[in-house]
Amino acid sequence: MDAFKLLKADHRKVAKLFGKLESANGKAKLEVFEQIKTELELHTHIEEKIFYPVLEKPKQTHDLTLEAYEEHDVVKNLLRQLSKAKSVNDEWEAQAKVLRENVEHHVEEEENELFPKAEAALGEEKIEALGEEMAAEKERKQGRTATKSSKKSGGAKKSAAKTKSASTAAKRVRASKTRSKKSAKKR
Ligand SMILES: [Fe+2]
Repeated sequence: MDAFKLLKADHRKVAKLFGKLESANGKAKLEVFEQIKTELELHTHIEEKIFYPVLEKPKQTHDLTLEAYEEHDVVKNLLRQLSKAKSVNDEWEAQAKVLRENVEHHVEEEENELFPKAEAALGEEKIEALGEEMAAEKERKQGRTATKSSKKSGGAKKSAAKTKSASTAAKRVRASKTRSKKSAKKR
């Protein structure tokens, strides 16, 4: 498995989902967002665990890789903030737009700069091996998530509902705190 093929396929999948996000409304929008979040978390995980540590070493790819880690952090922060929302408002839309722009920039930089340099520095064989490793890690992680969610749907609905209402309450507290902070700023 060619590492670049795998990562580019992920990139295309997320780009499609961002398109879907734009046309979706209300609850459906949050559902598409959840899909984007899952995809991006998995993608950044395999890159940071397997791909970037190798790319950090060669001189040609060192700086770009450090930059890529930083960009991942920005994306992860935005994902965290966006996932707190229980409904979509203008602020959320603005933040989602910034997320998309950040992801698009990162993808462009990877595909146009980092990947060609990585191929030159590591060679085809190593890229192939890294691809295998990332595909295996992805499957391992996905398998885990699938087991988790099937366990949840298998009779634990009540406790899931409980957890949900608890976290909704926590969100409300946070939201009201943010509001009071904001209005304090205005004064
Ligand atoms: Fe990345």
